[in-house]
Amino acid sequence: MRIDILTLFPGMFSGPFDFSIIRRAIDKGIVEIHLHDLRDFSKNKYRTVDDYPFGGGAGMVMMAEPIADCITRLKDERDYDEVIFLTPDGQLLEQKMSNELSLKGNLILLCGHYKGVDERVREHFITKEISIGDYVLSGGEIAAIVLADSIIRIIPGVLGDETSALSDSFQDGLLSPPVYTRPADFKGWKVPEVLISGHEAKIREWRLQQAIERTKNRRPGLLEEKD
Ligand code: 6GU
Repeated sequence: MRIDILTLFPGMFSGPFDFSIIRRAIDKGIVEIHLHDLRDFSKNKYRTVDDYPFGGGAGMVMMAEPIADCITRLKDERDYDEVIFLTPDGQLLEQKMSNELSLKGNLILLCGHYKGVDERVREHFITKEISIGDYVLSGGEIAAIVLADSIIRIIPGVLGDETSALSDSFQDGLLSPPVYTRPADFKGWKVPEVLISGHEAKIREWRLQQAIERTKNRRPGLLEEKD
């Protein structure tokens, strides 16, 4: 998979992709991430990429031309499956969307800033608009990092243990059960007996019951959504 990220702040991406699972996916050659500084596509000597909104009002708007030029250049080089705009008024990101996107080949992620981007970019270049939750971030960069992480970790071959992505919370519509590791007795707080019983079927049943219980208590809406 190849992910091209269009941003005003490429520096915000150093760090999140340099560790753990995502780092390994990049090192293994399973995913490539390319950052593009939209200021490089500015048409003026001040490298500005935003302007005042027509009709007045507070805040600046990201101009269509630099974004269009960057996307057009990328599309001239290869085909893209989706051109995604990260925006608080997009479709709410859920596991199902990450699962679907993890099967794609090439993605463009556009990070918005200021008051938004010129609507003509959304109309003519964007194929999907995604929000990561009902709260406002100062820009789309952190949302793009969240989206990329959730996609990359489930690409086949990224996780060492192929089954572990499937046992994530949300993959089966349930939250995950509690987990424990050694010691079996920590300050007198004991690990549930069943987990050290070695009885696989009983452990599986206990985990399922705990997952259901946890989901009922914390996220009852998830149980209703199940089809
Ligand atoms: Cl994608 N962008 C911004 N700026 N805020 C958000 C968001 C995106 N998703 C949730 N809040």
